[in-house]
Amino acid sequence: MKVWVAILFWILTLGSATAQNELPSVDSLPPNIYLDTAYAPFLFGVTSGDPLTDRVIIWTRITAANGATTVQVKWEMALDPLFNNIVNSGGTETTATKDWTVKVDAAGLQPGTRYYYRFVAPNGSYSPTGRAKTAPANGVSSFRMASLSCSSIYSGFFNAYRRLGERDDIDLIVHLGDYIYDFVDGSEKVRVPSPYPTEPNDIHTFRERHKYYLADPDLRYARQQHTWVAIWDNHDIDIKHPEIDKQAKQAFFEYLPIREVSLEEPYRIYRKFSFGGLFDIFMLDMNSYVVKDGENKTFLGDTQLQWLQNEVSQSTAKWKIIGSQKMVGGWYSKGIPKFLGLPGDGTFFDTSSFDGHHKERKALLQFFADSAINNLVVISGDMHMTFAMNLSLDPHNRKTYKRRTAKGSVGVEILTGSISRGNFDEAGAPKPAIEVIRKISMRTNPHHVFTDFIQHGYGILDITTERVIAEMWYSPVLYKTDIEKFGIGLRVRNGKNKWDWRLLAEPVNE
Ligand SMILES: [Fe+2]
Repeated sequence: MKVWVAILFWILTLGSATAQNELPSVDSLPPNIYLDTAYAPFLFGVTSGDPLTDRVIIWTRITAANGATTVQVKWEMALDPLFNNIVNSGGTETTATKDWTVKVDAAGLQPGTRYYYRFVAPNGSYSPTGRAKTAPANGVSSFRMASLSCSSIYSGFFNAYRRLGERDDIDLIVHLGDYIYDFVDGSEKVRVPSPYPTEPNDIHTFRERHKYYLADPDLRYARQQHTWVAIWDNHDIDIKHPEIDKQAKQAFFEYLPIREVSLEEPYRIYRKFSFGGLFDIFMLDMNSYVVKDGENKTFLGDTQLQWLQNEVSQSTAKWKIIGSQKMVGGWYSKGIPKFLGLPGDGTFFDTSSFDGHHKERKALLQFFADSAINNLVVISGDMHMTFAMNLSLDPHNRKTYKRRTAKGSVGVEILTGSISRGNFDEAGAPKPAIEVIRKISMRTNPHHVFTDFIQHGYGILDITTERVIAEMWYSPVLYKTDIEKFGIGLRVRNGKNKWDWRLLAEPVNE
C-alpha cells in the first residue's frame, strides 16, 4: 500500500513540476508556447537525427523528480506506430550533468526504413511516438529532403515547422544553423516573453534557451515527425567568447540529435552522411575555425578545408551536396547606388560570410573545377532570403563565366528563406523599394538565377539520379496560419552543373 502511495505522490510531483519549474525564467508566455504536459515527464517531445544505414540517434528529455541523481529511461523502436513489431529496445541513464537529456544511438536497423520510437519513464509513462528514417542502401533512385535555417522564436510563428511536420513526402530535415537565437531583433518583436530575454552566457542559460524553444509545439512536431541533420551558426554559439562558446556547444549537443564524430574534438560538427550512392552530404562548420586577419586568415581552417576537398573528390555518389551555414557563391554589391545605404564593404554585402574570404572560396571552387567534380550542390542559409545561383570562380569575368549560358559554372547553390527571421520588409523597408534593390542585385550578380527578398519558409531538394529539383515553400511568420504556397522550383540536370529550368516564371537574368 505504502509503495503505491509513494508512486502516486511521485507521479503527482512530476506533473506539478512541469510548467512552473521547467521554464523558470518566464512569467508571461507569448501565443503558442507551451510544454507538452500530456506526456509528462517528457515535456519537450522527442526527435531523431544523424541517420546511417543501420542506426539513428533518438532523443528526448525527462523531467526528473526533485532530489533525483539519476533516472533510468527505457526506449523502444518498432516498425509500426502501435509497437506490435518492436525491432530493438533498451535502457539508458541520464543525470543532471546532461540536463536530463536522453540520447540513444539505436542500432541494428534496416536501411531506408521508417521506424517509430518512444521512451518509457520509470513510472511507466510513455513519451510521444516519434518517426525516424534510416539512410538508404546502395541503389536508391530518389530522395526528398528539406533545407532550412534561421528560426528565431521571437521573430515569428513557426508555421513552416508545422508544415514540415505535416509532410509525409520528405526523408530528412537539414537545419543549416541559427536553430536558436541568442537575442531578440529589435524590429522583429513578434513573440517575446516577459521578462525580456537576455543573451545566454553559460551552460544554464543556453539550456534554458533550448528548453524555451521546445515549448513551441510546431518545432516539437517537426522534430517528432522527421529525422534531422543539424549544424550550428553564429547565433547558436558564441565564438567571440571561448568559455561561453564551449558551454553553448555543449547545450547544442545535448538538445540536438547529433552523433559525436571525434573523440579528440568533442564538439566537431563538420561531418559526412551517405545516402545510398545517390548523394553524399558534407556538413560544414563556418564559425569555429575562422581566422579573420593576418597570414593565417581562413574561413574553414586548414583541417576542415582539407577534409572537405578529400571527401568531395573521393566521393563516388552521384550528387555531392555541401551543407553550409553561409552563402558560398557570393553576393556582390558593386554597382548598387551608395545612397541606398546597404551594408558591406563596397564589393560584397556581407563580409562575415565566405565573401570576406574571397581568395579561399576561389581556391576551393578552383579545386572542384580542377578535380572535375560533377554534380556539386550547395545548400546554405543565414541570409533570411532566397538565392539560387550558379557557382563561378569569378562571375564578372566573361572568360570564366557567361551569364546567358552559365558556361563556366562549377556547381549550383540554393539558399532558402528563413523559417522565421525577418528580411528588409520586417526592418521597415517598403516593398517596392525592396523590389528595386532586388532587380539591381540581379543585374549586378550575373551568377544569380533567382532571388526573393521578402518571403519566409524552407526548401526541398527532390533528388534523383537524373536531376535535382529545388522547391521553395513559403508561409507567413507574423501570425499563426495554415497557409503555405509553392514559390518556385529550379532544376539542375546530371552533369550540367547549372540551374537550367524554373517551374514558375519569375524575374531572372536575361
Ligand atoms: Fe540567421
